[in-house]
Parts: sequence; structure tokens; C-alpha cells
Amino acid sequence: MAMLDALQALPSQASVQALHDLSGRVVLVTGGASGLGRAMAWGLACYGASCAIVDRDGELAQACAKEIATGLGVRAVAVSGNVSNEADVERAVVQVLAGLGRIDVLINNAGHNIRKPLFDYSCEEFDSLYAVHVRGSFLFCRAVGRHMRETRTGTIINVASILGHVGAENVAPYAAAKASLIQMTKVLALELAPHGIRVNAIAPGYIDTPLTRQHAPQVRQRIIDTTPLGRFGEARELIGAALFLASDASTFVTGTSLIIDGGWMAK
Ligand SMILES: NC(=O)c1ccc[n+]([C@@H]2O[C@H](COP(=O)([O-])OP(=O)(O)OC[C@H]3O[C@@H](n4cnc5c(N)ncnc54)[C@H](O)[C@@H]3O)[C@@H](O)[C@H]2O)c1
Repeated sequence: MAMLDALQALPSQASVQALHDLSGRVVLVTGGASGLGRAMAWGLACYGASCAIVDRDGELAQACAKEIATGLGVRAVAVSGNVSNEADVERAVVQVLAGLGRIDVLINNAGHNIRKPLFDYSCEEFDSLYAVHVRGSFLFCRAVGRHMRETRTGTIINVASILGHVGAENVAPYAAAKASLIQMTKVLALELAPHGIRVNAIAPGYIDTPLTRQHAPQVRQRIIDTTPLGRFGEARELIGAALFLASDASTFVTGTSLIIDGGWMAK
């Protein structure tokens, strides 16, 4: 007869069911006023987290914080700022700590894209993509990381892209910036592990948000045709991944990139 492992006590049902519980935790989401950021902030707030929405669109950030606070009864604040501006980032972190007391989860999500062939890009366009995706994430990791180092806990989620893993036409600076972000995720996972801080990335495929609604109709159709699940993803389909990486469901996960792409990368 098989023997049960007496030395490996299994966790209680209550502790397993509480793995996703985020009550008492504070989440800071950059670019949280639209698309994926808005959905992830809402999703984590559904599990009890207080939320800070940081976005360059201050008015929309206020509206998102209000929808979370009134809809879910948790605390939510909005901060207006540009993630690639060092002074804005430092001020945002001070403001969030003053308003919500701590930061347990950082989601570096703010971003934009510019699609064109290599020969048509200006240096300003190249710089703007690196500024938001790489510099912005770096500045927030550093500012929030200092606080997490003091509390000896925290989880950072960098929103990368499948285009950080594979090539595609007409997105050279964006894809290079997202690949940099995936590499930065690995390096910071190593550096911050001794401080009790986990660092992971989410790499979405094509998700229907204001960002991807800029695609021409024939490009949209090609994306649908080449995605194994035969459609764009929806912003709410990022919530599960964010919840996993933000919560105690992933306490042994760091330095990885979680792909959410309807099977696109499996081809
Ligand atoms: N939608 C997709 O298919 C997809 C796929 C892969 C990766 N991503 C990434 O997901 C993230 C969110 O994209 P989305 O689709 O939700 O786009 P979105 O345009 O709906 O939202 C982006 C948000 O970021 C904010 N923002 C942009 N630049 C900023 C800055 N410098 N400072 C502060 N806020 C800024 C915008 O105001 C906006 O609220 C981006 O990093 C994007 O590259 C999206």
C-alpha cells in the first residue's frame, strides 16, 4: 500500500483558499487609467487590494480610482504623472505612501506604441518608446524597490509583450524596449531576491484595448487569423495572470515572463 508522506504536512484548506487574498495589500499600477492597467487594478481590488492609479492622464486616473473605491469599497487614489520623468516618479511614490501607507505590488504597465518601417522612425520616436517602457519601469522599480527593501516584501510585475520574445515587422523600437524590459526583469529578480522582493513579467499577445484599436482593419483581421484561439484577447483576461504574480499563489516564482497570447507563441 502507498505510504503518505508524513513529513510533508499539507496546507490547510483555509490557507490554500486564501492564496489570492490581497486584503491589506497596496497595489500601484502605472498606466492604470486605461486598457490592461485599468482591468488589472480592478481585478486585484476585487481581491481586497487598495489601489494607486498612476497615469499621465490625471482625469482618467481619478475616474478609475473612483470606480474602484465606489464599486468595490476599497481605498483607491489617483496620481497624475509621466513615468519617464524621474521627479514625477519620486513624487508619485511619496504621494502613494502618504495616502495608502505602503506598496506591496508594483505593476509597470504604462506604455504606447508607434508602428512604422525602420526608415520612417525619427530618433524622438525611438527615444519616446525606450523612455516609457524601459526608463519608466526602471525608475519605478528603483523608487518602489527602496520601500519594498525596507519592508522586506513585495512583488513587481513588468508588462512586457510577446514582441519582447519574438520578432514582427514595423515595431523595432517597441520590440527592442520590451525585450530590454524582460531582461531587466531577470536581472532585478536576482538582485532583489535577497530582499524578499519578486520580479516577474507578463507578456501579452494581442489584446483589444485603445492601444490595439489603432491597427488598420486588415492588420486586425490578420492578427485574428494568426491567433490560434481566433480572436483578440480581452483586458479582463490579464487579471488571472496579475492575480497569480501579485499574490501568495506565486511565492516561488521570480524572474519569469508569463505569456498570455491565445496560443500565438506556440506556433
Ligand atoms: N494591448 C495589447 O495588445 C498589448 C500587448 C502587449 C503589451 N501591451 C502593453 O500593455 C501595456 C498597457 O497597454 P494597453 O493596451 O492597456 O494600452 P492603453 O493605451 O489602453 O493604456 C496605456 C495607459 O498608459 C498611460 N501612459 C502612457 N504613457 C505614459 C507615461 N509616459 N506616463 C504615464 N502614463 C502613461 C496612458 O495614459 C494609458 O492610460 C503597455 O505597456 C503595452 O505596451 C499591450
